[in-house]
Amino acid sequence: MKTSQAILTSAIAFSGIASAFWRMPCRSQTGVARLDPLVDPGEISAHVHTITGGGGFSWDATFETLTADGSCTACEVTQDHSAYWTPTLNFAYDNGTTVMVPQVGGMLVYYLYYLDKVKAFPEGFQMLAGNQAVRNFTGPFPDTELSHWPTDATDDQFFLQQRALGFNCLNYDIDPEPSLYRHTMPSQEYLDAHCKDGIRLELAFPSCGNGSLDSTDHKSHMAYPSLVKEGNCPDGYDEHYPFLFYETIWATNAFAGESGQFVLSYGDPVGTGYHGDFIMGWESEEFLQDALDTCKSPSGDIEDCPLFKMQSDSDAAKCTFDVPDCLKEDNPKGPRQGLAVDVPVQYGPEEATAYAVAGRKGHETQGIAPSQAPETFSQPTLTYSPADPESTKTAQGGIVVAMATTKSDSDQMKHGAVNPVGFESPATTSSPAEPSPPAQPEETPVSYITNGNTVVELFVTEVDVTVTATETASADSYHKRHLHRHAHHHHGR
Ligand SMILES: *[C@@H]1O[C@H](CO)[C@@H](O)[C@H](O)[C@H]1NC(C)=O
Ligand SMILES: *[C@@H]1O[C@H](CO)[C@@H](O)[C@H](O)[C@H]1NC(C)=O
Ligand SMILES: *[C@@H]1O[C@H](CO)[C@@H](O)[C@H](O)[C@H]1NC(C)=O
Repeated sequence: MKTSQAILTSAIAFSGIASAFWRMPCRSQTGVARLDPLVDPGEISAHVHTITGGGGFSWDATFETLTADGSCTACEVTQDHSAYWTPTLNFAYDNGTTVMVPQVGGMLVYYLYYLDKVKAFPEGFQMLAGNQAVRNFTGPFPDTELSHWPTDATDDQFFLQQRALGFNCLNYDIDPEPSLYRHTMPSQEYLDAHCKDGIRLELAFPSCGNGSLDSTDHKSHMAYPSLVKEGNCPDGYDEHYPFLFYETIWATNAFAGESGQFVLSYGDPVGTGYHGDFIMGWESEEFLQDALDTCKSPSGDIEDCPLFKMQSDSDAAKCTFDVPDCLKEDNPKGPRQGLAVDVPVQYGPEEATAYAVAGRKGHETQGIAPSQAPETFSQPTLTYSPADPESTKTAQGGIVVAMATTKSDSDQMKHGAVNPVGFESPATTSSPAEPSPPAQPEETPVSYITNGNTVVELFVTEVDVTVTATETASADSYHKRHLHRHAHHHHGR
């Protein structure tokens, strides 16, 4: 019997000085393909990305193509055709069969106002965050208190970039971890044992700009402020842009008990090379500036912004781009032998080396033999630590993504909280014991719950369950219960 499972999926709470923000839901992908118009314009990209935002995406996408008349967007706000993309997460079975881990709920893109006098991204603006070649994490682990961080951001961009990545272990039964707490991918053993609801990948973009729209490496026109999200901008980087923060959730739990490893699409099992890209595709710079000036609801809810036009998730999901013919055989989601396409796994700690890209200028991928994990490879994995939103003393304590609770089947029965808002849609089949990728859980965003400076996003994910459950709780009582529980978490400390 199929039914729904309610998941309070994402919430954000502030302490400290952050003033306002909004949260842009882009629930579906415009595509999954070896495309990257920033790094590899006009040609096949070196690895697979999951892409959302503007449907005018292609290997030579620009502000103009994304905002062209008649183009669509996979985001909820129709004036935002920006392109947002990151690598995919994959599971490689021991025998080499590799599948993309199901991505849950597309991407949430936060626009946070941490710096003062926040300016709109100009038309033509684009940037990349992270460095795909990095395979080690340097420095204290876990992060030291923010007060011990360097205050001059100028010389410490590598330090900051490493700390702009987050791997949030999801277990909705306990208090959430803080954002940007782990900067490396937890080991599969840890994920199996502790992260029963999967993992959330987090990417913070630099928000200090030098006034250029782009740069040769797509990075050096931008810099992180001294505490990643806030603090001092380096000299010469005096433009203050919104702090962009990408969240994607991956159902690593679908592979619990399997023998293999998680690896990002560019051959990274460590996680420290995680990266992402942004092309500004708002209808105009003026519009985005108006929105930044006007939409300061502490709820972060885009519906509180009178300027935004909204579309339904089903309309948003219709927005996809055309995959070029030369990529149609890639099978980026698998199952397939190895990563798409033949990207070698590189374990580090030394910097990853470049490889010939399959299909580009007629090449086969070659040069680096697919590697076995070295004897010495082990993932340092932090133990669980709950977020403390009252504190900005610990690193990144200011953004607390408070994942609330989900119900196990028995819990659902006990509380009668199955499918609290009455969404019905065909359940997906998910059979992680088989080599084929489990079907993508379908979900429908439901609502946001605001309580003081804490916002909880509620949505429903379709899952397979083997019990028959009856709906006995109204949406209203469900919301209240969780609001209460959530509030308890934060004020009880
Ligand atoms: C911004 O930085 C890039 C990369 O160093 C440089 O090429 C560009 O000239 C700089 N722009 C300005 C306006 O200083
Ligand atoms: C750690 O990563 C950096 C950046 O990729 C690299 O320069 C450095 O050599 C690496 N350290 C080791 C010990 O390999
Ligand atoms: C690899 O292992 C998986 C998991 O046991 C299995 O389902 C799959 O069929 C295997 N692939 C090959 C090519 O044997």
